[in-house]
Amino acid sequence: MEKKKTYYITTPIYYPSGNWHIGHTYTTVICDTFARYHKMLNEDVFFLTGTDEHGQKIEEKAKAAGVTPKQFIDPLVDGLKDIWKLLDVQYDRFIRTTDDDHVAAVQKIFKALYEKGDIYKSEYEGWYCTPCEAFWTKTQLKDGRCPDCGREVKLEKEESYFFRLSNYADRILKLYEDNPEFLQPKSRMNEMVNNFLKPGLQDLCVSRTSVKWGIPVDFDLSHTVYVWIDALSNYITALGYASENDGNFKKYWPADLHMTGKEIIRFHAIIWPAILMALDLPLPKQVYGHGWLLIGGDKLSKSKTDKVSTELTDPHELVSRYGCDCVRYFLLREIPFGSDGVYTNESLLKRINGDLANDLGNLVSRTTAMINQYFGGVLPSPAGREGTDGELIAVAEGVYKRVSDAMNALNAPDALVEIFKLVQRANKYIDETTPWILAKQQDEASRARLGTVMYNLAECIRISAIMLKPFLPVCPNKILSFFGIDGSAVTDFESVKSFGGLKGGITVEKATPLFPRIDVKKELEEIEKTVLARRAAEKKAEEKKAPVSKENDQKPQEITIDDFAKVQLKTGVVLEAEKVEKADKLLKLKVRTGTEERTIVSGIAKHYTPEEMVGKTVIVVANLKPAKLRGILSEGMLLCAEDAEGKFSLVTTLSDVADGAEVR
Ligand code: MSP
Repeated sequence: MEKKKTYYITTPIYYPSGNWHIGHTYTTVICDTFARYHKMLNEDVFFLTGTDEHGQKIEEKAKAAGVTPKQFIDPLVDGLKDIWKLLDVQYDRFIRTTDDDHVAAVQKIFKALYEKGDIYKSEYEGWYCTPCEAFWTKTQLKDGRCPDCGREVKLEKEESYFFRLSNYADRILKLYEDNPEFLQPKSRMNEMVNNFLKPGLQDLCVSRTSVKWGIPVDFDLSHTVYVWIDALSNYITALGYASENDGNFKKYWPADLHMTGKEIIRFHAIIWPAILMALDLPLPKQVYGHGWLLIGGDKLSKSKTDKVSTELTDPHELVSRYGCDCVRYFLLREIPFGSDGVYTNESLLKRINGDLANDLGNLVSRTTAMINQYFGGVLPSPAGREGTDGELIAVAEGVYKRVSDAMNALNAPDALVEIFKLVQRANKYIDETTPWILAKQQDEASRARLGTVMYNLAECIRISAIMLKPFLPVCPNKILSFFGIDGSAVTDFESVKSFGGLKGGITVEKATPLFPRIDVKKELEEIEKTVLARRAAEKKAEEKKAPVSKENDQKPQEITIDDFAKVQLKTGVVLEAEKVEKADKLLKLKVRTGTEERTIVSGIAKHYTPEEMVGKTVIVVANLKPAKLRGILSEGMLLCAEDAEGKFSLVTTLSDVADGAEVR
């Protein structure tokens, strides 16, 4: 059948951190749901997701692991793809920013912007947050820290290319004015206007010389493309933009919807439109900034959460315990769309028990059991309407429109509420019509009435199951299969607009249980035990690692007293201390050792502030060969102690000793 129109939807591309948690799955499950919904509307859908693989963070982690960045990333990307398989996410392309076609297209985009004058070369000084890959101006910092994640930032200065973002503030304001739907929910637009656009935009640093793990600027190879131009361009390079193979770009661009978490809205609703304007390309139709899954009031993040909470957050474990539909249902139903929502195992279990097992599961199992018990598994045809039939049928016939309205407003939770209103209404209909009493009556009218009731229930189930298809990939098809229908005309959206799609006479199977009914208290205890046991095992494994290194440390090569005498240790007093620029571990100290004053660069900045150091008595390796550290000649070294848990202390003297005293 010819498709009505195209629909292009994207998730952000994920940093391959490997610390995947249920919060990460939120954006993609929503997009998969909308993609499935639009496919069911007979639209030609392209759903894009992928990974954002360049940048300093990956470079540093790979180096620490002793592998190349690509070797470091590959298994993490596979891990992410596994999660999408578990959650039955059906993307049309998984783009990696290391893909050859993406790399080539980004180089062309960068060059085109440079040639048009939208990119120019200058020097950058700014506060850089490595985990967020973001530069901030001093005024944007919050208490001197990254305003997004609250972590430490570093002052960095280097020759860079800049994108003339400052030229675009007015055009972006106009874009918002002319298209109030462009950025949703509305609150995000206010935030962009008041916090960024009205104060005026600054040009954006778009290349780095200090980060090698990035796409090389092909006309100036000492630079790599700064991560955001690389990352954002994925939305067009994935379609073949700037390549010979640009059929998909012509077909699907502009995107219908960029779905993103709220923390990266600035990049999608300001920087990305400006880049597209500079490239003279059409703009995406809509950007939506969803809220976060929270634990204990904070954004769910594995490193933080695993230390403080006993919630199970690993998508693999959650899906293997409860199944893909339950996890997806929770995400789509529980978090008020556009706002933050609290994640707890208890709320997940309650949703499974309440909505899925009790409401939906019960309706299906009761109805199919009754059709089998009273009609030998053959669906009766309906006779005339009576009692509350009309009311039930009105809910069933209205559900498509109400779900469409909610989905058009990008409100998946409301769409589910509407479907479950039908499920609940049908359960109530069972109580109202009391089929078990009708079944006891021997007269023909009661038998016909019982048949009508069964038919109406079966038809409500069919409509609910079809409407649930975009949200839950497994159970709707299972439900439809109990009625012997799959892939036929009565399983599409068209067929739910009017009541009566099911044909009397079809065989109905007695349903097998759709969802587990969970003993919440027991399950929560079990989860807590599992999480605590894992934490203890991890701690033990860490402790085990420590003795290995200690053992090695304890067996150093033996030296003689003469060897030791070669090391000249002296007491010293710290006269001055300051941080070393661009080196967050180093302090530059002026130390007096008796008659001499010397400069020592020491890796203690994470443990002592310059102020704390001034006046301290330290032990100096006085005859160490001087060496340059960050361009500063360091004449000696300070003694420090660090234990297996990372506790750190400078070595000093117990009582006052004049500086320059020999240490033996
Ligand atoms: N690489 C960037 C995006 C570049 S797009 C051109 C990035 N990646 S991410 O891995 O940090 O985030 C991927 C998605 O996961 C984002 O939409 C983010 O909002 C989402 N989430 C990560 N933790 C989340 C929660 N706790 N709750 C909901 N979504 C969250 O940002």
